[in-house]
Amino acid sequence: MELIIVKNYEEASDLAFEHMIEVVKSNPKANLGLATGSTPIGLYDRMVKDHQTNGTSYKEIKTFNLDEYFGLDPQHEQSYYRFMYEHLFKDIDINLDNTHVPSGVGDIQENCNQYNALLKENPIDIQLLGIGGNGHIGFNEPGTAFDSVTHYIELKQRTREDNARLFFNGHLEEVPTHAITMGISNIMAAKKVLLIACGENKADAIVKMVEEEPSVDCPASALKNHPNCVCIVDEAAASKLSK
Ligand code: F6R
Repeated sequence: MELIIVKNYEEASDLAFEHMIEVVKSNPKANLGLATGSTPIGLYDRMVKDHQTNGTSYKEIKTFNLDEYFGLDPQHEQSYYRFMYEHLFKDIDINLDNTHVPSGVGDIQENCNQYNALLKENPIDIQLLGIGGNGHIGFNEPGTAFDSVTHYIELKQRTREDNARLFFNGHLEEVPTHAITMGISNIMAAKKVLLIACGENKADAIVKMVEEEPSVDCPASALKNHPNCVCIVDEAAASKLSK
């Protein structure tokens, strides 16, 4: 795992953009594993700006998102599909048929099976990740097995509180209690993993991920076993590291 400490969110987004665009430029048919949440917004803004000013094309790119809330229709204003559409897809030349977000409605086990099959057919070239304050990646909460594949999961209280604060105007009762998420082994199968962590709220999770032995108590610690994982961490998120 390569750990790169940068000053702040802007620098983290700039550097993440360089990693992402290198993959897109070197392989115009790349499969991108994407994330939602507050962290990748700066990166997506840069991808949109680059597309508009430099014409980088996504016509043959395919995308595969990590997760979706259970029970939210893709058109729901808080769905992760909607997030991706608003922050990235609508402003680049991607074919929407090539964008994939797990479905949180309908037969959830069937949705998991279909997503696993899709991931098997389409190996991911670069998987973008944020990290939860409790160390989750995707919605793989602490306790999730490292050999997990796409599954249905109950969200931890802290995850729902963090997401209520950031996206649901503080209305905890509106945050779904469950989600569908790629499993840790799906994430580990990506050729390259790019994790971004910014802000003090992530500092404890970063200590666990970097300084402790891999353990299901901190799902992100699985990444220590990934052969090509780059973690971009800002000073606030790195502030509790001892070395
Ligand atoms: C999002 C996801 C989550 C977030 C994590 C951090 O698709 O899978 O793991 O990356 O909850 O969220 P933010 O970036 O809002 O702090």
